[in-house]
Amino acid sequence: MRKLLLAALMAAGVSTGFGNAQAQDYPNRTITIVVPFSAGGPTDTVTRLVAESMSRTLGQQIIVENVGGAGGTLGAARVANAEPDGYTLLLHHIGMATSATLYRSLPYDPKSAFSYIGLVTEVPMTIVARPDFPPDDMAGLISYVKENADQVTYANAGIGAASHLCGMLFMSAIETPLVTVPYQGTGPAMTDLIGGQVDFMCDQTTNTTNQITAGKIKAYAVTTAERIDALPDVPTAAEAGLEGFQIGIWHGLYAPQGTPEEAIAALTDALQKALADENVVQRFADLGTAPVSAEEATPEALKNKLLSEIDRWAPVINAAGVYAD
Ligand code: MLT
Repeated sequence: MRKLLLAALMAAGVSTGFGNAQAQDYPNRTITIVVPFSAGGPTDTVTRLVAESMSRTLGQQIIVENVGGAGGTLGAARVANAEPDGYTLLLHHIGMATSATLYRSLPYDPKSAFSYIGLVTEVPMTIVARPDFPPDDMAGLISYVKENADQVTYANAGIGAASHLCGMLFMSAIETPLVTVPYQGTGPAMTDLIGGQVDFMCDQTTNTTNQITAGKIKAYAVTTAERIDALPDVPTAAEAGLEGFQIGIWHGLYAPQGTPEEAIAALTDALQKALADENVVQRFADLGTAPVSAEEATPEALKNKLLSEIDRWAPVINAAGVYAD
């Protein structure tokens, strides 16, 4: 009945505004979620798991578009400038907060360019190396890196990536600069690590768990306060001798600023259902992580997290004095 009335109003030329007509049957076509890193990496993995479940709830196809480069800022810019109609979204991580300081001339303002759908998950990191890298433990890694600092290569996904942030913290913890090799994502970096073309990196368990378990790479530590069930034999950084070396990579789902409230509400509902989906919960657990709670999978929680993290990391980055531009 409501649709008939709406159709009659529209036929009579009565404007129902952008929100009413499209919002009534949102979504009515394919949705795109942009991942600001290469396919096959941790952000891509999290996104595809969540998108598959959200697609079922929303009754529309969701495609994942990988837009790598510049530590995730190219993909973020793609969505910041997209039509705010609810059909182009961004799944990004802590890099949205750190790049706000690392990049002094971004083509968007991270504090105002996005509408918020909700937080998704916080993923631990692991310090890992190619399978034949000589050091066998963290103490050995630190002394080997110090002794061979100008030869050892560290892979990351560009300034602003989680792997860059972890590498920056590791370099300051061991007071040694590293030769870094940038990739468009830690998916391709992992290929080179397994193949021995690059020596070591710090990457999220969503990308390293299966490779560690399969013995394809070496693991020195996990960056959580306690060991994780998915990698019971991998010591925490504190156990391994790096006291206080803890970092978790939180992820959020965004839309362009100005996306209609009705679309945001439908997307937040679908996200919360995805994070309660037992398949998603199990797949996350297998990869060393867990969904956030329903209370955190909300626009307010993501907005507060982003703004507080921008303020938290700005002084750390400014003290290091390392910028992307
Ligand atoms: C990825 O998805 O490739 C990673 O998130 C890159 C990074 O942030 O290190």
